Amino acid sequence: MNLNGVVIRVPGKVNLGLSVGPLDSDGYHEIVTLFQAISLYDDVTVKIGSEGAGITLDASGSTSTGVPLDETNLAYRAADLMIRKFQLDSDIDIHLKKEIPVAGGMAGGSADAAGVIVGIDALFELGLSRDELERIGSELGSDVPFGIAGGTAIGRGRGDQLTPVLSQGTYQWVLALSNSGLSTPAVYGECDRLREGLSIAKPSANDALLQSLRAGDARELGKALSNDLQSAACSLRPALRLVLDVGNDYGALGCIVSGSGPTVAFLVEDEERALDLTVALSASGVVGGVVRASGPTHGARRISSF
Ligand code: C5P
Repeated sequence: MNLNGVVIRVPGKVNLGLSVGPLDSDGYHEIVTLFQAISLYDDVTVKIGSEGAGITLDASGSTSTGVPLDETNLAYRAADLMIRKFQLDSDIDIHLKKEIPVAGGMAGGSADAAGVIVGIDALFELGLSRDELERIGSELGSDVPFGIAGGTAIGRGRGDQLTPVLSQGTYQWVLALSNSGLSTPAVYGECDRLREGLSIAKPSANDALLQSLRAGDARELGKALSNDLQSAACSLRPALRLVLDVGNDYGALGCIVSGSGPTVAFLVEDEERALDLTVALSASGVVGGVVRASGPTHGARRISSF
């Protein structure tokens, strides 16, 4: 079948747990994190571009403002990497329809890169396995492999070495978005600064989280949420503490800064709580927007071809 284009739907993520070890000599931190893919998606269209145009990129959707449309965008770099790796003699046109916040700690840029990798594999019928796709993803960024995998998984190393995790049930989230993003390296740097002089243990898996997911127990999951980057994100963006307080006041089962922030994720019990919290957050004046999502959900997958 000769395809002209494909559309790949890719999820955002929250980190239910994020344990950060000391800074390594390569500038990265060894981490152990527990990812859950959630139902906020970017739709990535990858199609054959006009001859001689090279890689072209544009974006639309609720969170597309400020997305760079040049070679600094991870989606562009993903296309460039795939073209070089597989010596594809073709121009590639990418369109991002974005719902995942930009620089929000929900791996939006990584999701777009994941979509491009999976899209180019489908478009050129490369027949790559999930493992191969994820390995290519890890060359671009630590969160890209999880965008491909989805579901629930532990990420080790830089967060790119994935092991799927057994999880029962569906979890409801209310997400408080910020008007401006936080830089991931800046948050890791602030974490190092706050921990200066302390002896930092190797990162470890959070057993209480794993147990609550196995049992499908949202209440226990809420209590067990943990993120070593949270104090650093709050230190750089003190208003996040106010956002977290609103969640505690309105009966969230748990709340956490997602990844390096500034998105704050609230786990809620049911529809009614989700509505109460959404209204409270919107009225609080301390958030840029509120959206709802559930998880876990699938990883990058094709939703149409043309
Ligand atoms: O892998 P990625 O490009 O997403 O990482 C962005 C930055 O985040 C890195 O340059 C590094 O400063 C920081 N990082 C880290 N340890 C990790 C993942 C990311 O220090 N495990």
